Amino acid sequence: MEEQTDKTFTKNVSIVMALLVVFTIFIIFLARNLGHKEPVEDRPSREAAIQERINPVADVYTGEAGAAALEAAAASPVVERAIAFDGSLDGEMIYTSVCGVCHVTGAAGAPVPGQEAWLQRVDKGLDALTLSAINGLNAMPARGGRSDISDEQMKAAVEFMLQ
Ligand code: HEC
Repeated sequence: MEEQTDKTFTKNVSIVMALLVVFTIFIIFLARNLGHKEPVEDRPSREAAIQERINPVADVYTGEAGAAALEAAAASPVVERAIAFDGSLDGEMIYTSVCGVCHVTGAAGAPVPGQEAWLQRVDKGLDALTLSAINGLNAMPARGGRSDISDEQMKAAVEFMLQ
């Protein structure tokens, strides 16, 4: 009786082990077939992805190539500088929206048009006043702090201040 049980047990274990071996072989073949569908090197999308990853972030051009790159950049519309107020030459509008912050109230010691401190400067003339307003003067920031205001617009604003 005892021997019979041992035999059954050994037989069962052997069957289970045999099944496991078969299952393992099956898994190995399955895995090999799955991985072999497409040779990795041949995938064009992979090549493109690699190329994109190793692309230089920026280029430095010098000499002739540099001149050509600069020309191309200058010709590109993206680089075109935006001019304030769509290039409007409305001196009053420019003055009230930009210059007035200081020149209406006299903030930062700005001379208020019509007042003594301003009248002393009027003799400098339109061109000289415009030039110092473009370049800045002490607490007066260049172009009133708006680098996108053109020379002509600055002149129009100063003209309005002189009226
Ligand atoms: C941040 C304040 C501020 C803003 C904005 C500002 N100004 Fe002035 N501005 C000053 C001050 C301060 C002075 C006096 C500078 C000095 O003589 O020390 C001055 C002086 C001037 C003068 C006299 C320059 C001279 O030669 O005597 C002109 C002209 C002038 N500003 C024009 C403008 C115009 C035009 C704008 C707008 C585009 C403008 N300012 C915006 C502060 C400002």
